Amino acid sequence: MMQADTFPLGLLSLEREGETPLYQQLYAGIRQAILERQLAPAARLPSSRDLAELLGVSRNTVVNAYEQLLAEGYLEARVGAGTYVSSRLPEAFLHTRNRPASATRVSGNRPLSELGRAFARNAPRTRKQYRVFPQGVPDTNHFPFADWARLVSRHYRRAPNRLVNYGQAPAGYRPLREALAEHLQAARAVRCEPEQIIIVGGSQQALYLTGQILLERGDRVWFEDPGYPGARNALRVTGPTLVPVPVDEEGLDVPAGEALAPAARLAYVTPSHQFPLGWTMSLPRRFRLLQWAEENDAWILEDDYDSEYRYGGPPLASLQGLDKGRRVIYAGTFSKVLFPGLRLGYVVAPPDLVDAFIVARSLVNLSAPGVPQAVLAEFIEEGHFTRHIRRMRNLYKERRDALVTAVEAELGGLLELGPLDAGLHVSAWLPAGSDAEAIAGAALAREVMVTPLSRLALAPLEREGLVLGFAAATPQEIREGVRRLARVIDR
Ligand SMILES: Cc1ncc(COP(=O)(O)O)c(C=O)c1O
Repeated sequence: MMQADTFPLGLLSLEREGETPLYQQLYAGIRQAILERQLAPAARLPSSRDLAELLGVSRNTVVNAYEQLLAEGYLEARVGAGTYVSSRLPEAFLHTRNRPASATRVSGNRPLSELGRAFARNAPRTRKQYRVFPQGVPDTNHFPFADWARLVSRHYRRAPNRLVNYGQAPAGYRPLREALAEHLQAARAVRCEPEQIIIVGGSQQALYLTGQILLERGDRVWFEDPGYPGARNALRVTGPTLVPVPVDEEGLDVPAGEALAPAARLAYVTPSHQFPLGWTMSLPRRFRLLQWAEENDAWILEDDYDSEYRYGGPPLASLQGLDKGRRVIYAGTFSKVLFPGLRLGYVVAPPDLVDAFIVARSLVNLSAPGVPQAVLAEFIEEGHFTRHIRRMRNLYKERRDALVTAVEAELGGLLELGPLDAGLHVSAWLPAGSDAEAIAGAALAREVMVTPLSRLALAPLEREGLVLGFAAATPQEIREGVRRLARVIDR
C-alpha cells in the first residue's frame, strides 16, 4: 500500500488563496497524476484522514475529491480495504507527460469527414480587433443598453414558459415575426407575411441554411466577385461549385453570369450595397436577374446586411419586393443595426421554401433564444428600434465624412474611394502595382485594420484596393488612423 508519506505530493501544489476550491484542485491534481501514470493503475491511495493531515486541509476536502474521482471511474473503492487507482483504465488513454496540443491533433485522412477536414484546414485565427478600420463593425457604445436591460429584466422576472422552456416555435417568436414583417414592408418594401419569416442566429445562419436546403454537388452558384467570404464559405459547405461573377457600377454583372453559367441554381447578391465595392444594383439589372431566375428555375439569395444605413436619402427598396416569381430568399440581420453579439437575423423565404427552412433551422439548435426575441419585438414595437437607427445613421454619416476629408488631406491621389452613400465601410482603390497585403500588414502593426480586396476575391483583380470600415471609431480616431495609413502607403 502507498503510504501517505510516499504519495507524490509534488503533484498536489494547492493554491490556498486561489479562486478554485481546494477539493477541485486536489481532484484535478490526482486525476492528472493518474493520467500521466505517476499514480499507477491499482495503486492504493492514502486514507482521506491521512491525506488531509499530510496536506493540511480538512478531511472533507479529500473526501469530496475522492468522491468525484470515484464517480468518474478514476478510482475504485474496495469495501473495507480502502481506495485504489482504477485498474481498468485503458492503456491508450494514459500518457507519460502532458502532450502538446499539436500532438493530439487529428491527422491523416480517416478521423474527419471531407467537410471536417476542410473546416480543420481553415480554422479561423482570433485576431485582436482595433477600432480603425475593421470592416462591418458597428459602434456598440451608442446602443441604448439601459432600455434593452429594462425589457430583458421584465421578461425574466415573468419568465413565462413559452419563452424559457422547450417547445418554442422553431420559426421564431410570433410577435417578433409580426413586428418584423411590418417593419420590412415599410422600410424595405419587402413583400411578406409573418409566416414567411424565420428567425435565425444572424444572417450567417441564413446563408448556411440556404446552402443546406438548396445546393448540392454538381450545382453551380453565381457568386459576386469580389464578395463576402462568410457567404462564400457557408454556401460551399454542401459541395456546389461557386462561379465568380464580376461586379461593376450596376452591381452583379448578370449578362456575364448568363454567359458563364446559364443554368446555375442560385445567385448570391448584395443589391442594396454590394459587399465590398459598395455599388447599388441598377433597376435593369434587377429585372434581368429576376427574369433569369424565373426562366431557369433558379433561386436568388439577397443578402441585405446593412442597407438601413443610407446617407443620401431613404433606404432603397429590396430586390425581394420586385419579385413576382417567388424566387428571392431575403436574408437580414440585427448585427449592424443593433449589436453583433445578439446573434439574431432572419430569412424571408418564398412560400415554397418555408417548411424546409424551418426544419433545417430547428435541426441546428431548435430555435432562437426566447427572451432576446421577445425583447427585440418590444424594442421594435416601442419605437426604440427606428429611433436608434436614425441616431446611428447621423453618427455614421459624420464618421464617413471624417474619413473622406482625412483621405483627401492625407492620401489624395493615392487612395481612390469607391461609392460612399451607404453602409459601414468603403472600398478604396490603390495605385496600380501596390501590394495590398504588405500595406495591410504594416498598417496592422500600427493598430490600423484594413482588408485587401484580393482577400475577398475569387478571380485575380485588375487593380488592388482596401476595405475600410468607418463605423466603429470616432472622427478623431479616424483622422489618426488615416495619418498612420498614409505613412504606410507613402512608403
Ligand atoms: C455582406 C455580409 N453579409 C452577412 C454578414 C453577416 O452578419 P451576421 O451573421 O452578423 O448577421 C456580414 C457581416 O459582416 C456581411 O458583411
